Amino acid sequence: MNVLVVGGAGYIGSHCVRQLILAGHKPVVLDNLVFGHRGALAPSIHLYEHNLGDEAAVTRILRDEKIEAVMHFAAYAYVGESVNDPLKYYFNNVVATLHLLHAMLAVGVNKFIFSSTCATYGIPTQMPIVETMPQAPINPYGQTKLDIENALKSISRAKGLSFATFRYFNAAGAAEDGSIGEAHDPETHLIPLAIDAATGKRPPLQIFGIDYPTPDGTCLRDYVHVDDLSRAHIAVFDKLNQPGTGLFYNLGTGRPTSVYEVIRAVEKATGRKVPYTTAPRRAGDPPALFADSSKAVKELGWTIKFPDIDAIVATAWAWHSSRPEGYR
Ligand code: UFG
Repeated sequence: MNVLVVGGAGYIGSHCVRQLILAGHKPVVLDNLVFGHRGALAPSIHLYEHNLGDEAAVTRILRDEKIEAVMHFAAYAYVGESVNDPLKYYFNNVVATLHLLHAMLAVGVNKFIFSSTCATYGIPTQMPIVETMPQAPINPYGQTKLDIENALKSISRAKGLSFATFRYFNAAGAAEDGSIGEAHDPETHLIPLAIDAATGKRPPLQIFGIDYPTPDGTCLRDYVHVDDLSRAHIAVFDKLNQPGTGLFYNLGTGRPTSVYEVIRAVEKATGRKVPYTTAPRRAGDPPALFADSSKAVKELGWTIKFPDIDAIVATAWAWHSSRPEGYR
C-alpha cells in the first residue's frame, strides 16, 4: 500500500517507515523536520518538507503519490510545555491535524491511523487500563489527542473515514541494529537520560519521587518497544477496508516497571553504574500507568517481540553506543 507517514522522520514515525518497507509497503514521508531528522530515513525514502497543516501541499502529495492510507505521528508531546503554552499544542496537534484530514477527504483518501496516548486517560482509577475506561486528560497534551479521537468519530460517521487510534504507553528502545533510535531535543524521557548519565554525557539522573504508593516508591510505567508499536500500525490495515470503521487500541506490554528497575536495566546493558539523585515528584506524573492490550492482541494478532525492560533497553543502548551524537 502507498502510505503517507506524517512525522515519519521522528522517533516512532521513522521506525514505522522501516517496518512498512519490511512488510512490502511503500512509505512516503511528510515532516517539517522541526523535531524529525533526515538521517532517520533511508536515502531512498521520499521526504516532503512541509507543515501538516499546509493543505495545498498535502493535497498535492496525496494525489501525486497515489496515497491510500495516512499514518499521523507528528505532534508536540511535552506534557509540561503543553501546560504553559496550550495554544501551541491546540494549533499543531488539533488544528493542523484537522487540515490534514480535510485534505484527505477532499482527495478521497479514506484510511487514517492516529498516534494517541495513555495520557488521554488522565489518572485512571483502575489498572491495567482497558480501552473502555473513561478518558479524562489532566494536561493539554492529552486533551489535544482526545480532541482528535473525538473528531475522528464524528468525521467517520459523517464521511465514511476509516480510522484506527493507538494509545501508546511509554514508547522506548530503538532499531535492533542500532541504526535509528530516540533523539529528542530537549530530551526528557527516562531511558535516554539514564543511559547518558551512565556514560557521563549528562549529569546524574534525577529520580522524580521515591515516595509513591508503589513497591519501591518510584513510578510504574509500561515501556513498549518502538518496533512493536510500529508493527501494530501495519497489522491494522486489513481492518480499515469497510468505510466508517473506527478502532481504538492500547499498546503496551502490560508489565509495570519502576524507575529503579529501568536504572538496573540500563546498568545491565551498559555495564556501568547510573549515577542518580532523588528529587521531588514531577507535576502531573501518575503513580502507575500500564496497559491491558489484549484487544490489540486478539483483534490484530499483535505480538510483542520485546516483552521485558532488559530487552528494550538493550536496543536503546545499541543505538546510543553506536551513535553517541544521535543524528548529528
Ligand atoms: N523520570 C525520572 N527522571 C527523569 C525522567 C523521568 O524519574 O529524568 C520518571 C518519571 O517521573 C516517570 C518515568 O520516569 O515516572 C517515565 O518518565 P518519561 O518522561 O520517560 O515518560 P512519561 O511516563 O512521563 O511520558 C510518557 C510519554 C508521554 C505521555 C505520557 C503519559 O512519553 O508522551 O507518558 O503519561 F504523555
